Amino acid sequence: MHSLTVEAPAKLNLTLDILRRRPDGYHEMRMVMGSISLCDRVTVEPVDDGFVLRARGVTLPSGRVTMEQRAAEAFFTALHRPMPGLVVTLEKQIPAYAGLGGGSSDVAALLRALRQLYAPEMPTAELERIGLQVGSDVPYCVRGGTCLAEGRGEILTDLPSLPPCPVVVCKPDIDLPTAQLFARVRPESISRRPDTQGMLRAMSSGSLEAVARQLCNVFEEVLPAPAEAEVRTIKRQMMEQGALNAAMSGSGPTVFGLFSDSETARRAFEALQKDYRQTFLAQIL
Ligand code: C5P
Repeated sequence: MHSLTVEAPAKLNLTLDILRRRPDGYHEMRMVMGSISLCDRVTVEPVDDGFVLRARGVTLPSGRVTMEQRAAEAFFTALHRPMPGLVVTLEKQIPAYAGLGGGSSDVAALLRALRQLYAPEMPTAELERIGLQVGSDVPYCVRGGTCLAEGRGEILTDLPSLPPCPVVVCKPDIDLPTAQLFARVRPESISRRPDTQGMLRAMSSGSLEAVARQLCNVFEEVLPAPAEAEVRTIKRQMMEQGALNAAMSGSGPTVFGLFSDSETARRAFEALQKDYRQTFLAQIL
């Protein structure tokens, strides 16, 4: 069987709200998500036996079963077939641990590739269910595009696509483990929440300015002081450079800015890149 390469786009949280902590330890979420052109590439190559994960652009964590292997095992369990030998190669562009869903998107791309190779008839809902066994953001990444995500992140409603829009994405050099940030959240004492209904109305109006006004992420309220200062600085720079608005994505620390024209976005990208090595110019898909 031949090998297959698929793209794994990064995601942005246009809104992120945390409604309550659940008895199972997860949190009940409400998020508007969108995919962007910044992407990894995932190649799947069937081989005789074994599971090998390779990566260009990053060092992989060693010594534990990767999300990719767990996803592949869950996929073949769902098919009631033994797992064939697989070599999976990641070409990374999306910064890891950044709030951009890079890891989840790689897993989702692997699942889409496995479906294309081994079970083209499998419905997307089934692939999303398999993805949820590996991570809360994987079902969204399987589906992609613009979605409202609720529950742990797996209850998805398709939304109209956003107006075409350049976006500057900037990751400061801080690590913010998602679970640690969730542990800092007291859902009952969040002071500024997104107006999710307002965002949905803004999206159906097709006005980029109205969408930009509604950007809001409750994680920004619970950042540890050094991360909070970095995020505030990058947001201010985005605004000074002409962004319509800027917000942190996911559990951060990456900040993104929406721009109305590509010339302004390019200038902002060039300015931010001087201070932040991991700065990208992309498009909302
Ligand atoms: O699902 P995933 O393994 O990606 O989640 C990582 C961690 O983030 C979980 O262990 C949990 O602490 C937190 N989380 C949460 N509520 C969610 C999603 C993730 O508390 N809806």
